[in-house]
Amino acid sequence: MDVKKILVVGAGTMGNGIAQTASISGYDVTMTDVSPEILERATAVIAKSVEKLATKGVIDETQKEAALQIATALDLEAAREADLVVEAATENPELKLKLFADLDGMAPEKTILASNTSSISLTKIGAATKRPDKVIGMHFFNPVPLMKLLEVVRGLATSDETTQAVVEVGRKMGKEPVEAMDSPGFISNRILCPMINEAVFALQEGIGTAEAIDTVMKLGMNHPMGPLALADLIGLDVVLFVLEVLHRDLGEDKYRPCPLLRKMVDASYLGRKTGRGFYDYSK
Ligand code: CAA
Repeated sequence: MDVKKILVVGAGTMGNGIAQTASISGYDVTMTDVSPEILERATAVIAKSVEKLATKGVIDETQKEAALQIATALDLEAAREADLVVEAATENPELKLKLFADLDGMAPEKTILASNTSSISLTKIGAATKRPDKVIGMHFFNPVPLMKLLEVVRGLATSDETTQAVVEVGRKMGKEPVEAMDSPGFISNRILCPMINEAVFALQEGIGTAEAIDTVMKLGMNHPMGPLALADLIGLDVVLFVLEVLHRDLGEDKYRPCPLLRKMVDASYLGRKTGRGFYDYSK
């Protein structure tokens, strides 16, 4: 299938990163969200990012201009013309199932409906539509313009044709697509979130300070950032949500979320987005 028009649903951190990357890769992109303020913020984030990338020579002026002209909308009407929809809305199962049912009712039969979900079953999302063969996971990584991985997640009914089309789009977006089965957390979060959880347990037990834990993983294991700083980047609420899915769906106590992580989410210490997580970002 030849993908030309892409609708990105959700203009938060992941959505605007996906829209930006798709647009500089030559796709005709529309980005939608529920409030004008969110769209304005997303447009400003994209402008700052492409300015940086253009200054460094990573992208040229034409690509920068394309990203600055991404169409925005407050509804899903652009789904009627899209070849591919990439949903990057809030990680809320009810919301996503409803969105997919709505998109299924609006998009042409040929349109692929992809989700950037980090933990919700693609098989379940597919079952909310009449086209489960055309429903697939396109799991991008934050910050999207810089991270090379695209985790391509197949639901039980996802077809080879859909998978192939999405792999091609991923490559054109400069990503390295890797296929994963539809299993809780897929490959990425099945491994990443338990590691972050263990780091929070280490902090809770006083084995080391946040700085000490992160420094060990940065200098001893060559991770670009420590697990607690990474949790702050991802959002502590997202990490907790993924751990709850792993704990519930895999049924093993080793995935039990650390009480300190829960407490921080209860306090709205969600990381960079609220100005406070394991570190203070208020200044
Ligand atoms: N657009 C353009 N440029 C950007 C950018 C963006 N969105 N984000 C960062 N940069 C730039 C910075 O401005 C900086 O530029 P200068 O060197 O000119 O100042 C450059 O990239 C490097 O950034 P930093 O100096 O801040 O720090 P860094 O060298 O450590 O790189 C990083 C930042 C790429 C985020 C790196 O720390 C890293 O790879 N961290 C791990 C990220 C990661 O693991 N992400 C996956 C999270 S999991 C997920 O997303 C999915 C899920 O389901 C939970």
